[in-house]
Parts: sequence; structure tokens; C-alpha cells
Amino acid sequence: MNKDVFATRRHNLMKHIGEGIAIIPTAPVCTRNRDVEYPYRADSDFAYLTHFPEPEAVAVLAPGRPQGEFIMFCREKDPEKETWDGRRAGLEGACNDYGADDAFPIDDIDDILPGLLENRPEVHVPMGRYPDFNDRLMGWVSTVQKKARAGVHAPKRFVDLSEILYELRLIKQTPELRALKKACTISAKAHKRAMRACKPGLHEYQIEAELNYEFRHGGGQAVAYPPIVAGGANACILHYTENSDPLNDGDLLLIDAGVEYDYYAADITRTFPVNGKYSAEQKELYQVVLAAQQAAIDVTRPGTLWNEPHDAAVVVLAQGLLDARILKGSLDGVLESGSYKRFYMHRTGHWLGMDVHDVGEYKIEDTWRQLEPGMVMTVEPGLYIPGNSIGVHPRWWNIGIRIEDDVVIKKKTDVEILSSATPKTVEDIEQWMAG
Ligand code: GLY
Ligand code: MN
Ligand code: MN
Repeated sequence: MNKDVFATRRHNLMKHIGEGIAIIPTAPVCTRNRDVEYPYRADSDFAYLTHFPEPEAVAVLAPGRPQGEFIMFCREKDPEKETWDGRRAGLEGACNDYGADDAFPIDDIDDILPGLLENRPEVHVPMGRYPDFNDRLMGWVSTVQKKARAGVHAPKRFVDLSEILYELRLIKQTPELRALKKACTISAKAHKRAMRACKPGLHEYQIEAELNYEFRHGGGQAVAYPPIVAGGANACILHYTENSDPLNDGDLLLIDAGVEYDYYAADITRTFPVNGKYSAEQKELYQVVLAAQQAAIDVTRPGTLWNEPHDAAVVVLAQGLLDARILKGSLDGVLESGSYKRFYMHRTGHWLGMDVHDVGEYKIEDTWRQLEPGMVMTVEPGLYIPGNSIGVHPRWWNIGIRIEDDVVIKKKTDVEILSSATPKTVEDIEQWMAG
């Protein structure tokens, strides 16, 4: 993304923080085992405002500061360390490549940051996410408090950065939609490749390998979340990620997988037959989930309340469970008692963006919020009938189905389905798998 994108984001945030100051640390490096680290991924808030990819960095936004409003603390260049661990932007790179007005070594932050807090009435920080950082912040504030007799005011209020920043992150601008589209395009290819490769006798991890191939080949940086490649009964475990079992003839395979592209996540689920042909029972429930998803998408548009797509999907799922005699009683009774939750226990969607479960409030005070142009969300109904479900005919057992697409709210009544290149109807999937 162009450097201006990040300058505009910082500007938009600073408009709201007035005389205050914002301090945004990036994520720490995490150890995987002994001296092996997890692949590094910057904190999303920090990356949203800076695009700076290195660990050990803190961005400060100080509106009205005469020497410059965007200050970066980061690692200095170090030829020896860079030979071992990779290139660093250094202080010069932070200014020249990432738009900082001023940059200081991260090792000097305890000396410099208190001065930046002087006479700022409030501090905007991410609260609770990095407890060690919050402790250090208290130390910096306490340093400023000690200068009271010299007439220096210390900050009096802490404000969670989310209050302003998450509302900005919730409404996606054109470059963000482009990145999301790219993530979805790569992920759609990955799902298609997985469908084509699938056959009885392979293992779930071999299908995961097909996904990974397209993710990296397409230029994605990482999986946006651990992929779920769940055959048969495993599809009824919502967060199954072992991906270790053999794939059996006659079972369904549920894949929930998406790539991250330039910090933006795709989140796509498809459920297809391991052998390329849905059985009568699988097809019947698949059509119910597909119709539920369509019912949800049909009401997904500007002005709709957040819960309405979920409610629309639930009506179709509940009726489908009654038609299949998996549930007994009346539609009203099933909806009122919530008995459908035994087979549909999650919500129909979430915000999508830099984080797969992206930031932004779902309710404004006590009411579900309205959908607005620029919001991006998933629509992902499902049905899960575990084996040995008491009172359910065995022909439905071990069928787990979810269908998940990524949807942008556009102007007027329009929506765009970013993940639409992934085959979805029974006919399209069977045809694609046979090809
Ligand atoms: N992949 C996580 C979810 O669908 O919410
Ligand atoms: Mn999702
Ligand atoms: Mn998903």
C-alpha cells in the first residue's frame, strides 16, 4: 500500500485525539520452543497506522508537536545482527520509508517518552493487550508527575485506543478492500485446488498442503488463522485444527481456510464430498445451509441491523432441521426454545479485516448496530450433527457443514461477495471436482 494511506490514517486518528497523545506498541516476538520463534506478525493497530513490520517498535502520535507529530521508536541498524536475523529499517528507514517525522532507538524510550507526555491531558493506548507495556507506561507517567513543582502537567486520563481506532478500522477504504479482495482471490484458488486434489485415502494434512501451496504461491504472507481441514466427524468440532486423519469415501470434508495478504485476512469455508459426489443426506442438509446463507446475504445491506442476517439464517436452518425430522415440533417452538442450537451453536458472522475476527462494536449501547458501506463481514451458517446424536436417525450422523463467504457492504442495497470465485452450489462443486 502507498505511504499516503498510512499518513491519512494517522491524520484521521489525530483529528480525534486533540491535545492528547497516542502510544501504540507493536506485538512482542513469541517463543515457540527453546530458541525457536513463531513467525513474526506486527500488531494490527500498529501496522494499520505505520505498516512497519519489525518487532521492538513503538509508534507515538503527538498532534501539534512542533518537531513532528509521528515519532517512532525502533531498533537501530546493526550490521552484525542484521547478518544473523535480517534487515532492519533503522531510524533513517523509519523516517524515509515509513513516514516518521522523528525516530529514536527503542533502547532510549525510557528517557525520551516521559518528555512527550508532558502537558498532554490524556493518553490513548491499547488497554489490557500488553500488560508489561501498560506497566512501563505507568512508570513514564510517574516520571512526569515528579516534575509537578516545575509546572509540568502529567496526563490525567487513559483512554482505550479502541474507542476511536476501531471505528476507523471497521470502515474499510479502497486500498483495504483491494487487499481483502486479493486475499480472497488467492484463498478461492486454494479451495479450488483442495477440491480437485481431494480423494479417499489421502489425509487431511495432504489437503492442507494444497491450500498452503496456493497461499504462498499467490503471494500471501501467512495463513490468516490455522486452517481447519476436517473430514467426516471432525467437521462437527468447530475449531478442529489437527488435520491429521485419513479421508474416507462417503464422508464430507469441511475446509475453513484463508490467507493473509498485506495484513488483511480472508476467511472462507466450503464443505464438499471426499469422493466428489454428495450422498442424498449430505445434499439435503447442504441445500439447507446454502439456503440459510442466501437468506442471510439477502438481508445483508446498508441499514440492516447486525443480528438480522443471523436471524434470517436461523429460520431456514431450523425449518431444515424440522423437515429432516432431526428436530421435532413447530418452527416457532424451535426458535423460541433455541433447540436448534444443539446443531447450530455459533453466530452467522463477524467483522473481517486485518484480524480475522476483526475489531469494531456489534452493538451501539443496547442495540445491534446498522450495517454501513465499507464494513466487511463473513456470512457463515452451518449445521453440525455429531455421531451418536441421541434422538437423531443415524443417517444424519457425522455430517458437519459450514458455508462461509466474505461480504462487503456497498452503497445503497448493494453487497459484493469477495470470495465468490469459490464453487459453492452442489452442481458447481461436483462439476469442479470431476474436472
Ligand atoms: N475461521 C474462523 C471463523 O470462521 O470464524
Ligand atoms: Mn469466520
Ligand atoms: Mn472461517
